[in-house]
Amino acid sequence: MANKFFIDEKLYSYILEYGIRDNPILKELRQETALLHNGKMQITAEQAQFMGFLAKITNAKKYLEFGVFTGYSSLSMALAMGNDSQSVCLEKNENYIQIARKYWTKAGVNERIKVLHDDALKSCEYLIKNNYLNYFDFAFIDSDKNNIMKYYEYCLLLVKSGGIIVIDNVLFHGEVAQENKSTFANSIHELNKLIQLDNRVEMSLIPIADGLSLIYKK
Ligand SMILES: C[S@@+](CC[C@H](N)C(=O)[O-])C[C@H]1O[C@@H](n2cnc3c(N)ncnc32)[C@H](O)[C@@H]1O
Repeated sequence: MANKFFIDEKLYSYILEYGIRDNPILKELRQETALLHNGKMQITAEQAQFMGFLAKITNAKKYLEFGVFTGYSSLSMALAMGNDSQSVCLEKNENYIQIARKYWTKAGVNERIKVLHDDALKSCEYLIKNNYLNYFDFAFIDSDKNNIMKYYEYCLLLVKSGGIIVIDNVLFHGEVAQENKSTFANSIHELNKLIQLDNRVEMSLIPIADGLSLIYKK
């Protein structure tokens, strides 16, 4: 059976108008990021709303993020989780971190967000060695796809039992279902297959944005 309906521009505008609770700073950040040549790396507003909703209903307070870019997902999550939350965000590009910090500061969440400015694999090792095992309530994987399987395994160490892991781009523009896949799409496909059979977790792959896998660590 095919998908239920196609979201055209008009319907998408409707979703943005009625399906999210926008914030002027988030809106401004979306506008600045849209001017960048790679602005599409930013998660969509409705995805951020959904992730914030998940954080609220699970009372998540300790958030781990792989891939900050200009800070949209991290800002949305910090706002959703509230003043008593803490985020640890992994990002290798200093220029992006500077843009993110500008908006985090404007929104009053900068002090609650720690950035590990390094390659994410090295940052994971740092977290393991510094007592962050079973620490996080919620992790979001949205950086390079080559290492996505390793990030998933690190998350299973760093996220507590009962915590949530969300993985972005699991449909990779539909390429995961094609016969001939790029290296990136193939890495994601391998991870999707592993998660489906992984009895350490409960899972659901949902076709929002570029595909999100929702993982519950048992
Ligand atoms: C898709 S973007 C993240 C988008 C972001 N979550 C948002 O909502 O706007 C991916 C980010 O991962 C970063 N990145 C890629 N490979 C990385 C690595 N090996 N270690 C740390 N960061 C990495 C990139 O610099 C980029 O900022």
